[in-house]
Amino acid sequence: PTTRNYDFVVEERRGAPDGVEKLMLVVNGQFPGPTIEANADDRIVVNVTNKLPNSTAIHWHGLFQRNTNFYDGTLAITQCGIPPGESMIYNFTFDGYVGSTWWHAHAGTQYTDGITGALIVHAKNESVPAYNGDLAIQMADLYHGFSPALLNLYFTPGGIEGTPGNEPVPDGGTINGVGQYGASNSSFFNVTLEANKTYRLRLINSGSFVAMLFSVDDHVLTVIEADGTPVTPFDVASVSVAVAQRYSVLLHTNASAGAYWMRAGLDQDAFTYDNPGVQTEVRGILRYGVANDTIPDVVLLDNPPNLPSGSPGDLDTDDLVPVGGGPAPDATFSVYFTISMQYTGGPNYLSQFLSFINSTSWEPLQGTSSLFSHLGNKTADGSATLADSQLVTTIDEEHVVEFIIDNLDDGDHPFHLHGHKFWIVGTGAGRYQHQALDNKAPMLRDTLVIPAYTYTILRFVADNPGFWAFHCHIQWHMGAHWSMQAAGLLFQINVLPSESAKFAIPQYMLDQCAKAG
Ligand code: C2O
Repeated sequence: PTTRNYDFVVEERRGAPDGVEKLMLVVNGQFPGPTIEANADDRIVVNVTNKLPNSTAIHWHGLFQRNTNFYDGTLAITQCGIPPGESMIYNFTFDGYVGSTWWHAHAGTQYTDGITGALIVHAKNESVPAYNGDLAIQMADLYHGFSPALLNLYFTPGGIEGTPGNEPVPDGGTINGVGQYGASNSSFFNVTLEANKTYRLRLINSGSFVAMLFSVDDHVLTVIEADGTPVTPFDVASVSVAVAQRYSVLLHTNASAGAYWMRAGLDQDAFTYDNPGVQTEVRGILRYGVANDTIPDVVLLDNPPNLPSGSPGDLDTDDLVPVGGGPAPDATFSVYFTISMQYTGGPNYLSQFLSFINSTSWEPLQGTSSLFSHLGNKTADGSATLADSQLVTTIDEEHVVEFIIDNLDDGDHPFHLHGHKFWIVGTGAGRYQHQALDNKAPMLRDTLVIPAYTYTILRFVADNPGFWAFHCHIQWHMGAHWSMQAAGLLFQINVLPSESAKFAIPQYMLDQCAKAG
């Protein structure tokens, strides 16, 4: 095992990922930020220095953080945040997580403005076909506005286009930090590979709102991994990657030598209003057997994709079968909840658009964290209570937990569970009314889309002590920082509290609470 050390300096910078200059929040002056690449038994030590005017926290999406819940990097849940001008060290191992994932700020909407990067874990015994080389492809929607201002518009009475609850529509997107806004801009992320080899493309949607449809002209893609779970390989022409999901696909460089478009199409079904200038497809260039500056023949940005002939269809997530999968264990603890969103006024809320899990909406209180509160008088004001506006489910012994979820909202929500992977044992239209499960070899992952007006049943083994968020990963729905309002589409599970009570949390992390800004 190796210890890998990283220094992350988080700061504001002006940048122009798609040619339009904007205010960004970045790590080490890069967008995307540094890739963390390691072997399964390595230790990762990241020293994060916060040069932002607000507290920040960095989350390692999909990792388990077994017995290091306090390094999960979730503002107001597992820590009070790194105060402006200060540093902290995250120190963790992978505990069996292998495959493709990413890291991002988990404080307000900071990651929308650029604080994201790939995180790749290699293992010799990973159950995937052999490949010759691999490449992380981060796709993200892109906003020319600064995210706190967009969030504010989203909530408030005037709203966007006069309607609170209209999610900001992106102006375009990026592939590995490069996009194309307007016809005159022709910078592309590009890569030159070797001919007649097999490459593993690690697709990551590090965006804030919309799914991205990825394809490479004239090439079939073989899906082999989703969210760190190896899957029975199957061929597709394109892969729809929801926010925060990851897929690995194999690509064979065996078409004729040339330069080909990689395409990442923004899912326009998610758009809540018309944004006339939006660039709905981002491109990159993938080439082999030709010079490094060769570009594809057709440079027009609006020509239709040239998908492989007789091509397989898009990825249908029903096709995902985990390698060696079998039925999920029977549930021993069940939680039923509904998802809804509405404009509200009332004693506990500002008049704003809010999300509800059952009837609660998550709202962080300045200088608090659920974990530290649970451990006793360790919040800024000495109180040990959580905000009463949030749902926390305590699981005080090891259980197979079942979530039965009715999405009563008219939007699709990509939900993510921290610290665990779940089996997807049931989905269907309408409300849950004791429909039969589909539990032969359910997919095991950490992020899934719960479509509008459908139910979903998940199961997971709650054996990892600490406070873990379960939330919609759409930044406008999850974004929460005490410096701003929050839609609050999040709830927490408090797993094995008698175990987390034994955590040795570094004193300086507790001291951060008094300085949270
Ligand atoms: Cu990608 Cu709450 O995380």
